[in-house]
Amino acid sequence: MRIDEASRDTLISRERELAARYAALAGAGLALDVTRGKPSAAQLDLSDGLDGVLGGNYRGEDGTDLRNYGGLDGLPEAKRLFAPVLQVPASNVLVGGNSSLTLMWQCALYGMQFGFAGPESAWSRHGKVRFICPVPGYDRHFSICEHLGIEMLTVPMTPTGPDMDAVEALLASDPSIRGMWVVPRFSNPTGAVCDEQTVARCAALARRAAPGFRLFWDDAYAVHALAADAPRLASLHEACVRLGTEDSVLLFGSTSKITHAGAGVAFLAASEPNLRAIRHHMGFASIGPDKVNQRRHVAFLGGFDGLLAHMEGHAALLRPRFAAVLDTLERELGGSGMGSWSRPRGGYFVSFDTRPGLAREVVRLAAEAGVKLTPAGATFPYGKDPEDRNIRIAPSFPTVAEIERAMDVFVVCVQLASVRQRLA
Ligand SMILES: Cc1ncc(COP(=O)(O)O)c(C=O)c1O
Repeated sequence: MRIDEASRDTLISRERELAARYAALAGAGLALDVTRGKPSAAQLDLSDGLDGVLGGNYRGEDGTDLRNYGGLDGLPEAKRLFAPVLQVPASNVLVGGNSSLTLMWQCALYGMQFGFAGPESAWSRHGKVRFICPVPGYDRHFSICEHLGIEMLTVPMTPTGPDMDAVEALLASDPSIRGMWVVPRFSNPTGAVCDEQTVARCAALARRAAPGFRLFWDDAYAVHALAADAPRLASLHEACVRLGTEDSVLLFGSTSKITHAGAGVAFLAASEPNLRAIRHHMGFASIGPDKVNQRRHVAFLGGFDGLLAHMEGHAALLRPRFAAVLDTLERELGGSGMGSWSRPRGGYFVSFDTRPGLAREVVRLAAEAGVKLTPAGATFPYGKDPEDRNIRIAPSFPTVAEIERAMDVFVVCVQLASVRQRLA
């Protein structure tokens, strides 16, 4: 049934049928959760070899005693392992603790409060501070801005990255913009991958932006392809070197979805002046990160090729889960006009858009039938989706059977909400 073409009588009988199906599902006592972008236990099992991999050898390649304090910016061998993930030279990498979100929070705080080029460069010294946020996007980026008092301006995320015409127009009109978030490969939640032209335009933003502008390039899903032919990402670093804009970008990544999510290693890449500032500010909070864990990762993954081979194990576990989501959406909603969705080639999420004004209602209906979805609005700054359309589906954590059941409920909720909206 194409909803916009259905007669009132058809809609009325369809509503009755769907309400009965919904009631049966709601009575089944389901307790399913597709909110969490977390690896499943089977994915975590892939990295259990980390434990004991050092075999009691606590020396780094340069003789450092890994158990002791020191080494604020990480082990050289860990920098070499993660440099190709961010497509940068190892000399530009800093390797930290377990969370890239922590590194992003720290860098946003440094930019705001202390500056990357001396105290005068602190954004907060120059009045209002704004960041550009592609939407839908990652809620925790938005929370960082909100907590630091950074106002957020949205631009649409397209299948090839942020709408760069909109980004450039904003920069031209607003000198208070000091930063921008981008998840460049398999973005959260749409799975978009920045094409080469978008990467080049991102590298050139500093030429249009106010002094001190920093692009926060969160490459959380850099190596998280579901298939070998997934789109690749051009090197932002190389594009910046061509333009001389290396100081305007900060790149982030982690092994949270490579090894153990809560016990991995996070890293960032930046120009030498930025690294100097970051090391200085960081030195007040830490004597150094967990080097034993960094070395365990080097020993376990064995290099970038080993890391990519390891990621195939994740892809094998994730592919059927994504297929379970996409097959159900296609079968039940394809051609119906009741929603549209992304078909990601990697990453952790499927992004679903309802008809305008229905995301909250679908999330509510699903919750009452025992299926927990990410709150509607979470993918927008301040939790406000202006069209109330976007819902993020996270298939990694549940089993395939659980995803199938959850999606059966989801599509009935979408259909019921859509038909009722047309009848109202
Ligand atoms: C885009 C993005 N960045 C960062 C993170 C968190 O990274 P980490 O575990 O390294 O703090 C996530 C987790 O969902 C994410 O989706």
